[in-house]
Amino acid sequence: MNNVNGLNIGTLWRSAYIMGASYIFTIDKKYKSQMSDVTKTWKKIPLYHYKNFDEFYDNQPTATRIIAVELDEKATMLADFEHPNQACYLLGNEQAGLSQKVLKRCHGIVQLPGNFSLNVAVAGSILMYDRIAKLGGELPQ
Ligand SMILES: C[S@@+](CC[C@H](N)C(=O)[O-])C[C@H]1O[C@@H](n2cnc3c(N)ncnc32)[C@H](O)[C@@H]1O
Repeated sequence: MNNVNGLNIGTLWRSAYIMGASYIFTIDKKYKSQMSDVTKTWKKIPLYHYKNFDEFYDNQPTATRIIAVELDEKATMLADFEHPNQACYLLGNEQAGLSQKVLKRCHGIVQLPGNFSLNVAVAGSILMYDRIAKLGGELPQ
């Protein structure tokens, strides 16, 4: 997931690991270990750092669909969203969110309910739960 900061990122990584993510990543900001990641996710699954969106984009596996998680008028509401089998979810930072330039290059945009931004770790955790629930409720092995 993208260049989130503060303690949120540790919370997000912890959820990602517990909910079966294959890898985690940051764009434009290296991750410094945080107390909120009690699982030390970066020791369990790969953590990649990308300098910018282009580097991230160019290094995704071919079949991966890049899904932006953002409040946007073009977004599909989470209730109606079908998760691709092979998806990489991109979340924005707490200050600016994801730019329109980035949103245009993603394969899909999904929005959670509400007209006001959720905390990024909360948004990511709800999204991952929704993916697991819609794909049969089993955590990936
Ligand atoms: C705190 S929000 C960014 C808020 C930013 N200040 C803005 O106004 O766009 C951080 C990130 O959480 C995710 N997020 C928060 N609420 C969301 C929602 N309702 N739907 C989808 N993503 C959400 C997005 O990835 C967003 O970029």
